[in-house]
Amino acid sequence: MSYVVRPWALRDLKDVMRLIREAATFHKALDQVKTTPEALREDGFGTDPKFGCLVAEVPPDQRSKDGHTIVGYQFHYFRYCTWAGRIIFGEDLYVMPEFRGKGIGTSLLSQVAKLMLDHGGKQFRFMSANWNHPATALYKKLGAVDVTASDNWVIWHIEGQAVQEMAQRATQ
Ligand SMILES: CC(C)(COP(=O)(O)OP(=O)(O)OC[C@H]1O[C@@H](n2cnc3c(N)ncnc32)[C@H](O)[C@@H]1OP(=O)(O)O)[C@@H](O)C(=O)NCCC(=O)NCCS
Repeated sequence: MSYVVRPWALRDLKDVMRLIREAATFHKALDQVKTTPEALREDGFGTDPKFGCLVAEVPPDQRSKDGHTIVGYQFHYFRYCTWAGRIIFGEDLYVMPEFRGKGIGTSLLSQVAKLMLDHGGKQFRFMSANWNHPATALYKKLGAVDVTASDNWVIWHIEGQAVQEMAQRATQ
């Protein structure tokens, strides 16, 4: 089986949205997907893109059972760490089940790592669920460190009413 990993283009928008929903379903969190193709278009292709996305594409004669040639993706965005300097954050690594175990996931990660190094970055960060043993095994094999276990880091989110209230205190 052959495939290419390349930056996404506008024509991939529908496929990437499909894969975002598949990845969320894998995480039993489809109800949390609030993005729309319009939002992704604006945030990914606007004048100040908020993220990049790589897609894995197979030739038409190797398309999926459902007829898809875009079979995997990974989002990424540059961030700044006061300790490490430039870093990149990877989000949503996903490969369709029928294309797994063929090196596509590793290729997507490798391309993001290269992009990061090419831009003077020092660290590649990503998250995974603690029940996701195949992903955990893959990340460990590639040399990643679980910083929740090693350094006790916890990820926090604040949104909805709580973040509204937090922001209101800024003007009081
Ligand atoms: C994690 C994931 C992206 C890996 O993609 P992939 O294309 O299968 O990755 P690779 O082919 O590079 O294989 C990486 C390793 O995963 C193993 N693997 C994972 N899933 C596999 C599957 N369904 N079939 C076969 N091997 C699998 C392989 O054994 C391989 O290890 P090896 O090189 O020692 O043989 C993919 O399994 C996936 O999309 N999973 C669901 C979403 C997810 O967990 N995302 C990551 C966390 S956010």
